[in-house]
Amino acid sequence: MMEAHAGGPSDNESPESNPVVAIDGPAASGKSSVAREVAKALGFVFVSSGAMYRAFTWEVLRRGANSGDRDAVLSVLGETGFQCATSDGAATILVNGADPGEAAHTGEVNANVSTVAAYPEVRKALLVEQRGFAHVGTGVVMEGRDIGTVVFPDTPYKFYVDASPEVRQARRRAQGIEDSVLERDKQDSSRETAPLRQAEDAAVIDSSDLTLGEVVGKVLRLLKEKGLAAASGA
Ligand code: CDP
Ligand code: CDP
Repeated sequence: MMEAHAGGPSDNESPESNPVVAIDGPAASGKSSVAREVAKALGFVFVSSGAMYRAFTWEVLRRGANSGDRDAVLSVLGETGFQCATSDGAATILVNGADPGEAAHTGEVNANVSTVAAYPEVRKALLVEQRGFAHVGTGVVMEGRDIGTVVFPDTPYKFYVDASPEVRQARRRAQGIEDSVLERDKQDSSRETAPLRQAEDAAVIDSSDLTLGEVVGKVLRLLKEKGLAAASGA
C-alpha cells in the first residue's frame, strides 16, 4: 500500500522523532541488504538514501545534462520535484512524477552519481526528504553515507558497515552490475559536503567474512542492548 510522505522538520531532527537506525558505509559493503532485513525485523520502514541520489542522477542524465556541469545540474534541480512515500515497508521516490525503477542502477548512473551527489545544493534538497522520514511509521532504518554524521547525528543507533575493497568489488561483480566501487568511494570520501566517514559513535562491523544473516544478527543484538527490540521479541 502506498502512503504519502508524512513530512517533517527540514533543518533539525525534532526531539519527538521516531527511532532512526542509521547504517552507513562504502559501496557494496552490504548496507542496503542489511538495512532492509533489520527494518523487517523491527517493523520499521526501510529507507535507501542512495536511491534518492540515484533517482535524481537518472533525471539529470535523462534530461541530457552533463553531471560535471554544475549549472546544468542545478538547473535540472530547480525544475525537479521529489515525491517520497512508503510502500510495503520501504521508502519510494518519484522524480517529477516518474519512478526510475531499475534504471537507477545502470552503469551510467553508477558512473555519474557521486559527481551529482557532491553538489551541496543537491544534498540540501535531498536532506529535507530524508529527514521527512523521521516521522513515518513507528521508526525507520535509513542507509547511506552521511546518515549518522549529518542526516540524523543525534540518533543513538548508528552503524558503519564495511568490507575490504576486494570483497566489495567482487560482490558487485557477482551482481553483474558495471560499477567502479573504489572510484565512487574515493569521490564520496573526498567531497567537501557530508563526505563518507565513520561517525565517532557508530558501531563498526566488518562484513568481509560474514554472511548477510550474521551482520543482521549482530546489528539486532546491538540494538537490543540499547533497548530497541525486534518486533518478534527476538
Ligand atoms: O548501494 P551503493 O553503495 O551502490 O550506493 P548507494 O547507497 O545507492 O548510493 C549511490 C551514491 O549516492 C553514492 O556513491 C554516493 O555518491 C551517493 N550517496 C550520498 O552521497 N549520500 C548518501 N547518504 C547516500 C548515497
Ligand atoms: O548497499 P550496498 O551497496 O552497501 O550493498 P548491497 O547491495 O546490500 O550488497 C551487495 C551484494 O553483496 C549483494 O548481492 C549482497 O547480497 C551481497 N552481500 C554479501 O554477499 N555478504 C554480506 N555480508 C552482505 C552483502
